[in-house]
Amino acid sequence: MASTDKPDSTGPDELTAAFGKQLSLSSRSVHADDYINNHQAVAPPMHVSTTFRYSRNPDDLKQWENHNPLAPYDSHIYSRDSAPNTTRFEAILTSLLNGPCLTYSSGLSAFHAMMVYLNPKRVAIGGGYHGCHGVLAILTKLNGLVKLDLEDPSSLSQLQKGDVIHVETPLNPTGEARNLQYYRELASEKGCYLTVDATFAPPPLLDPFKFGVDMIMHSGTKYFGGHSDMLAGVLAVRPDKPDWVEGLKLERLHLGSVMGSLEGWLGVRSLRTLELRVTRQADSAQKLVDWLSSPENELVKESVEQVLHASLQPEAKDENSWLRKQMPNGFGPVFSFMMKSEDMAKRLPSKLHLFHHATSLGGVESLIEWRAITDRSVDKRLLRVSVGVEAWEDLRDDLLKGFQALKDELKKKQ
Ligand SMILES: Cc1ncc(COP(=O)(O)O)c(C=O)c1O
Repeated sequence: MASTDKPDSTGPDELTAAFGKQLSLSSRSVHADDYINNHQAVAPPMHVSTTFRYSRNPDDLKQWENHNPLAPYDSHIYSRDSAPNTTRFEAILTSLLNGPCLTYSSGLSAFHAMMVYLNPKRVAIGGGYHGCHGVLAILTKLNGLVKLDLEDPSSLSQLQKGDVIHVETPLNPTGEARNLQYYRELASEKGCYLTVDATFAPPPLLDPFKFGVDMIMHSGTKYFGGHSDMLAGVLAVRPDKPDWVEGLKLERLHLGSVMGSLEGWLGVRSLRTLELRVTRQADSAQKLVDWLSSPENELVKESVEQVLHASLQPEAKDENSWLRKQMPNGFGPVFSFMMKSEDMAKRLPSKLHLFHHATSLGGVESLIEWRAITDRSVDKRLLRVSVGVEAWEDLRDDLLKGFQALKDELKKKQ
């Protein structure tokens, strides 16, 4: 490379200027980190170093700065602060989520970092992922944080300035959505921060910043990783608060909850196909939900009590509803269904061939989980489904064969 201060590739702002518009989500997934690439290799290298050489010129030495003139966007000191693979992952996420992003070792460490940074006295939170409630319980132990119930108006009346309203949408495990506009108004009225766990609706399904959210959190383990092989957490900060990113980054340095370099590398590989995967997965999930919830098929009718998904909420039918405005590109690749009995829910996964019986979600492989195994709060008849990238017709046939095998087994037991 010439000894200019810049690598060959253009940064995101220059790309937008060159095209006279913001590029599509898919193009940004592939190119938003080009400006960091200072090597001829097309695919990113994997860096394992935890520490980075300082300049040999004593006049260049400055506190907490290690400017590399050959790769100005790729300058690092120590990997608990920043490292090449995670930085590239964050550069792409920043472009895709429309606000500056930081990554963490897991979704829960991102949630923890968000609570530590905002430091509320009270947090209003609804149902959703039980692990976030576990983090809040730790904060209650440490500093007396009070948990309020998002669904209970008398509980919400205790909210005060500086508290947090935390909304998970769509919700784990049902895939049902919550109205962000409504909670934005409530947060503004009370002087609270509004934070969102948008793990179940990655781009292009939901852009929480369009609804005035202060911080977005994702378990990057799910759709950003997308292949069931990496743990990661992501925080995106509203674009008019760049100082929050600096504050969060300093606190992350001391909390030590950074992502590993291998995960950063895997994350970049995965984001390249984010839109392809998520669009396909959401589309297939919708087809399966429609099929399961309008059962012309006798076997489905005999096996399934109820299907749960944002597309089945009453507002989904009204194109002017908050739900259709919030999720204009599809309702999400995760849904749940209730079997007729607990025993049937427990036994169905073992009859399936394509769905793995496992927890988690967001990977290319379809998963089904008898949710009672990992979540004590749910109905024991509930099965959670994370739709992968297989053909939806094959997934439908797998379920159908499973319902039949279950029926045969139960008949034999009688
Ligand atoms: C909605 C939601 N938020 C947060 C988490 C926690 O993420 P992680 O497992 O990456 O810590 C999960 C994990 O399942 C989740 O489903």
